[in-house]
Amino acid sequence: MAGFCFLDKEIMTESVKYLLDESRMPKSWYNLVADLPTPPPPVLHPGTLQPIGPDDLAPLFPRSLIQQEVSTEREIEIPEPVRDIYRQWRPTPLYRARRLEKALGTPARIYYKYEGVSPAGSHKPNTAVAQAFYNREAGIKRIATETGAGQWGSSLAFAGALFGIEVQVFMVRVSYQQKPYRRALMETYGARCVASPSEETACGRAILAQRPDHPGSLGIAISEAVEVAAQRDDTKYALGSVLNHVLLHQTVVGLESMAQLEMAGDYPDVIVACTGGGSNFAGIAFPFIGAQLRGGQRVRIVAIEPAACPTLTRGPYAYDFGDTAHLTPLTKMHTLGSTFTPPGFHAGGLRYHGMAPLVSHVKELGLIEARAYHQLSCFEAGVLFARVEGILPAPEANHAVKGAIDEALRCKEEGISRAILFNLCGHGHFDMQAYMDYFAGKLTDQSYDEAELAMALSGLPSVTAA
Ligand SMILES: Cc1ncc(COP(=O)(O)O)c(C=O)c1O
Repeated sequence: MAGFCFLDKEIMTESVKYLLDESRMPKSWYNLVADLPTPPPPVLHPGTLQPIGPDDLAPLFPRSLIQQEVSTEREIEIPEPVRDIYRQWRPTPLYRARRLEKALGTPARIYYKYEGVSPAGSHKPNTAVAQAFYNREAGIKRIATETGAGQWGSSLAFAGALFGIEVQVFMVRVSYQQKPYRRALMETYGARCVASPSEETACGRAILAQRPDHPGSLGIAISEAVEVAAQRDDTKYALGSVLNHVLLHQTVVGLESMAQLEMAGDYPDVIVACTGGGSNFAGIAFPFIGAQLRGGQRVRIVAIEPAACPTLTRGPYAYDFGDTAHLTPLTKMHTLGSTFTPPGFHAGGLRYHGMAPLVSHVKELGLIEARAYHQLSCFEAGVLFARVEGILPAPEANHAVKGAIDEALRCKEEGISRAILFNLCGHGHFDMQAYMDYFAGKLTDQSYDEAELAMALSGLPSVTAA
């Protein structure tokens, strides 16, 4: 990096941002299921092991979202009130990372889609606004949800404020302690946020009785929110990732990226995104996978996950519960087992035991690759990125930054100029404690406990029918 010059003439004269006019914001979400060569396996009822029907999901979600969950239509229209709110920050910018390219000395062309410009600071409002809209249309007064990093909780709190819906958020305890300002943001939007496991639900109390200092997990927080939603007719549950309809709502990210790359006169050879439950990854990748399946250009797609919670690279593809207390149906996905509690590393949004069934399915079809990184190398990549591009990524997004940098360095080694597109899915302005710990040398590369993983996997439900 020595001798790197910000006022380089070449840098100053070439485009850095590709901006779409509001009128070019997508009018429909894209549903990958329409283009898949084989449909994803069915969701099963845990009691009967038979495929579930819409009625099984009705206590948790409004009908319109259940229809989207099972839809095979290629395009699903975005309702005008949702587009109206999207316009507050969408279309989001696509950047060409010219300074990063220069710092790395790579012939690669690196592009990043920046979702951190949303009110909550990540891609999560893309689905929060849609879910709050459909719940309001169904007359719902309250929504219960989980949050890991706090990005999803803040996003639903924001959407709830816009649609007059009360929001209750169960925040994974370790993140609740690491990020008090995320909780303050949720409260500013009018939501109530409690640390999970909590005393407010039967499953929270049962877990605390066994281990009073339990750090929490997304699986437990989901159980608590589902339990609350199932108890009241005026309350539904909302999930910030994993489900088909959530991934669907995120496809605005990839659809906009396609139009912006067209403005740049380019097309990606490689797409990189981090994976927690799979929604920002699907958002940027699925429209490109669909184009490829319809005969378009082939793109390598790389999912980056934390080595301390390596769902795609280490977890078997099996039927499992989405939550720890086993209140959800069974979905076929890459999973580390529903009782698995990952170590408390700083990318809280990536600490989920499972992976979106659709992302897992495309992995099985050989349409995507997956790679796992430890957190220190991701923070190192994020700091380099901040120093050259100015934007401070969320710890989750650092995984994508690291993945993109590695791809760019590979281009350098091979002397090949490839176009790399990655999803900079959120900013890290509420994650400064993590950066401070990193600079103070307090962060370590934590590994998961092999014995705990074996135990969690031994508890996988036995499903032979499907
Ligand atoms: C900034 C950010 N990126 C990524 C994720 C991971 O979720 P997903 O894989 O659904 O995008 C989260 C989850 O909270 C997040 O906050």
